Amino acid sequence: MKKRILTGDTPTGKLHLGHFVGTLQNRVKLQDEYETYIILADLHALTTLSKDPYKISQYTLEVAIDNLAVGLNPDKSHIFVESLVPEIYELAAIFSMYVTYGRVMRNPTIKDEITMKELGNTYSLGFINYPIYQAADILCVKANLVPVGKDQVAHLEQTREIARDINRVTNSEIFPIPEVLVGQHGKLPGLDGKAKMSKSLGNAIFLSDSSEEVKKKVMRMYTDPTRIRATDPGHIEGNAVFTYHDVFNPNKDEVADMKQAYEHGKISDVAVKEKLYQVLETFLSPIRERRIKLEKDKGKIREIIIEGSKKAREESQKTLLEVKEKIGLSIV
Ligand code: TRP
Repeated sequence: MKKRILTGDTPTGKLHLGHFVGTLQNRVKLQDEYETYIILADLHALTTLSKDPYKISQYTLEVAIDNLAVGLNPDKSHIFVESLVPEIYELAAIFSMYVTYGRVMRNPTIKDEITMKELGNTYSLGFINYPIYQAADILCVKANLVPVGKDQVAHLEQTREIARDINRVTNSEIFPIPEVLVGQHGKLPGLDGKAKMSKSLGNAIFLSDSSEEVKKKVMRMYTDPTRIRATDPGHIEGNAVFTYHDVFNPNKDEVADMKQAYEHGKISDVAVKEKLYQVLETFLSPIRERRIKLEKDKGKIREIIIEGSKKAREESQKTLLEVKEKIGLSIV
């Protein structure tokens, strides 16, 4: 039997280059080797969209389209919606009995989000609980591997702890202990040079951005703040334009030459940005074209999601039954 992947996205907006580098690339690469499940975690989206919940269904479709446009093949991979698999909620309820409040609040990604979004103590119970839901997303299909961006590693650690706890307490091997796979380039910085490309920080290039939008964003990118004129020696380290060249420019010699010229004040910021714009266009234009085609057939996208959700639900029902029987939540 093939080993399984489960990974996915929270549909709070369209996907961007950071998602591609962190996880989408690995999903596409591994979909032949693993039986792949992609979750559109719409319940999670309520953690940030609780005041505009009507947006979630539209974003769910958009994120499905993003996944298909980068090359996820629905004949091989199951793309499904979290809220269509309610067994996940039941599993999460059981898991939550095995996680202390202190452990949840020590989760560094949760802590970061509270600080970054200045949530103070205004976050919902659901917000601090979402890593538990995420564990249920992953374990409902007994996934072996979870390709994610770096910011998700803390959640995966929690998932692994839960899997071990349930195995221990039921004296069984119900759950495999899922491995984490982080994208080759780790975290992609934002256009503003901040550590992370993120929709909520407004520093992202989306897979669906038009050519003009990409150009505008690239030309405004953060580079080296100490460099006033093109003849000043420039710095590569911490310079997002070069980080993007390293990730997306397949011509490594060109990148090496540009870096040298930049450090010696022999090439302008505008020139390295023009090049980057071309590189990103080559990468994004086929994705953009596939997106436009897919958008024309929303009925087909819905069909793909419904099929995927049926399959995920079948597997989750089996898993839930097994857990309930072993954990004493069954008198028959
Ligand atoms: N929390 C993830 C994110 O924001 C999305 C997600 C939800 C996920 N459930 C998952 C990722 C299960 C991997 C596995 O990107």
